[in-house]
Amino acid sequence: MKLPVPVVITVLAVLWATGCDRLPGKPDAAGRYQRPTEIMDFTILYGQNCSGCHGAQGRLGPSRPLADPLYLAYVGSERMRQIVAHGVPGTSMPAFAESSGGTLTEEQIAALVREIYERWGDAARVKGALLPSYEVGATSTAGGDAAFAAFCADCHGTDGSGGEKAGSVVDPDYLALVSDQMLRTSVVVGRTDLGMPDWREAGDRPMTPQEITDVVTWMTARRKAFPEAQLPGAPGNGRN
Ligand code: HEC
Ligand code: HEC
Repeated sequence: MKLPVPVVITVLAVLWATGCDRLPGKPDAAGRYQRPTEIMDFTILYGQNCSGCHGAQGRLGPSRPLADPLYLAYVGSERMRQIVAHGVPGTSMPAFAESSGGTLTEEQIAALVREIYERWGDAARVKGALLPSYEVGATSTAGGDAAFAAFCADCHGTDGSGGEKAGSVVDPDYLALVSDQMLRTSVVVGRTDLGMPDWREAGDRPMTPQEITDVVTWMTARRKAFPEAQLPGAPGNGRN
């Protein structure tokens, strides 16, 4: 249909004057296109950026659960913000900050982290847990055989290659993809979604700080036995 020019001009003028929102049949504000950087809704932000690896409800994903009050207390919100912004080099954890090549603004990252803590944190329940320190720190000189046998072998097997209750922690592909920090985090807070206990419950008594360091070194020592893990950029080459 061809409209006469004055009609077209009138329609355009009305549109301009009223704004497109008020035309009948137009989607309302909630359904309107948002630029990716304008999205602040947690469900969308988390669903689009995190759930594939950390699980739909923050649990049962391939990477560690975030819906874990003990873990949230352990890592701390400021450190989490840094990790989300800059990623974990040498692993599949991406950097999300625009300044690090990612797609999220500082505001979006802050909102994500704040809401992760609001939904899944529980300071009261974790209070008094006397959490071991987060940092990997120096490697152990003890070798770790005794600590691994006492706290881990029952589930992961005497040589770490898996048992009836849990899989391998010495698989070369696994060790090549995971940072020393992630191994320590797993030992301290466990993987509650899959039945791995935290440092207080792995054995008959809580692990000491030294024993935690020992078993982490025990695992990283096995990674270094595999030449492909020594490539530049791989975790475990001194950058983590
Ligand atoms: C492509 C998969 C992937 C995506 C997407 C992803 N992560 Fe991760 N994330 C990982 C992996 C793998 C690690 C463990 C890295 C390592 O070995 O240290 C990790 C580690 C982390 C850690 C640190 C764990 C520790 O040791 O304390 C945090 C916090 C985290 N991710 C939060 C997020 C958040 C929030 C999002 C979404 C904005 C996200 N991740 C998206 C894979 C992913
Ligand atoms: C009660 C059984 C149990 C004990 C004890 C245990 N684990 Fe686990 N662990 C698990 C289960 C279950 C998983 C989940 C994956 C699987 O099934 O292998 C797991 C996962 C892990 C992971 C992988 C975490 C991830 O998300 O990448 C590491 C690393 C690990 N354990 C190390 C250890 C070490 C070191 C010890 C000793 C301090 C230990 N575990 C003690 C049951 C256990």
